[in-house]
Amino acid sequence: MELLVEGVGHAFGALPVLEGVDLEVRAGEILSLIGPSGCGKSTLLAIMGGLLRPTRGRVAARGTPPAGCLNPFTYVFQDFALLPWRTVAGNVALALEHHPLSRAERRERVAAALSTIGLAEFARTYPGRLSGGMRQRVGIARALVVRPAVLLLDEPLSALDAQTRELLIEEFLALWQRDRTTAVHITHNLGEALRLADRIVVLSRRPGRIKATVAVDVPREGRTRPEAAGRIAALHAVLWDLLREEARAAARELAA
Ligand SMILES: Nc1ncnc2c1ncn2[C@@H]1O[C@H](COP(=O)(O)OP(=O)(O)O)[C@@H](O)[C@H]1O
Ligand SMILES: [Mg+2]
Repeated sequence: MELLVEGVGHAFGALPVLEGVDLEVRAGEILSLIGPSGCGKSTLLAIMGGLLRPTRGRVAARGTPPAGCLNPFTYVFQDFALLPWRTVAGNVALALEHHPLSRAERRERVAAALSTIGLAEFARTYPGRLSGGMRQRVGIARALVVRPAVLLLDEPLSALDAQTRELLIEEFLALWQRDRTTAVHITHNLGEALRLADRIVVLSRRPGRIKATVAVDVPREGRTRPEAAGRIAALHAVLWDLLREEARAAARELAA
């Protein structure tokens, strides 16, 4: 499915958070959103997924959801948002509550989602016994169990150490390759955006507006190869040039 964001603006009371956001998320692409802290990225994601109604503008979804889709939109959050008193399987099954499924289908979906992300043997484990990387694998499994049309990832790897993040990037891409689910991905890590995204949207400081859209014109599978290093570094420099002033000004405003 694809998403069309048209003239979206949002304010929380008197605080304007987003202004004039026009954006198209193409079917089967990963779009990364970057911008200074507090510029409205999470707000925009909540609006895209229908969790929050914008004060201006609208979001339209086009296309048919994949077979077996229960929820068109699913989220993966930075803090994993797992219930400590439910097992791994129980946490994944949470996404299936309120859906009229047979017990067999419920079991089958949970098992498939867990095995997809390499968690089958941890089905009965509690989140407290898992590492951060494993917990986020549960978060991803919970998102996939509904066979979403659009994945909304809000800094999914930000709480993880560098090596775990690298592993999850590889695992996520291998997984994503199979279904090519349309995805919107927020990160503050330029390297992560340059690994995952087809296009990277740079937001200004609050109220967030689109400052630029940068296409990552290197095939995904080649981005870590030495031949691509020059191009990736050039894109990194372009992005940082766009972000630097915004981040500096946002930090000053935060301190004031
Ligand atoms: N529910 C809310 N009520 C009031 N203000 C909010 C709410 N959610 C976010 N904000 C404010 O809106 C601004 C943008 O927040 P957010 O979208 O979370 O930014 P980002 O994800 O880019 O860091 C911030 O100043 C934040 O404090
Ligand atoms: Mg945020």
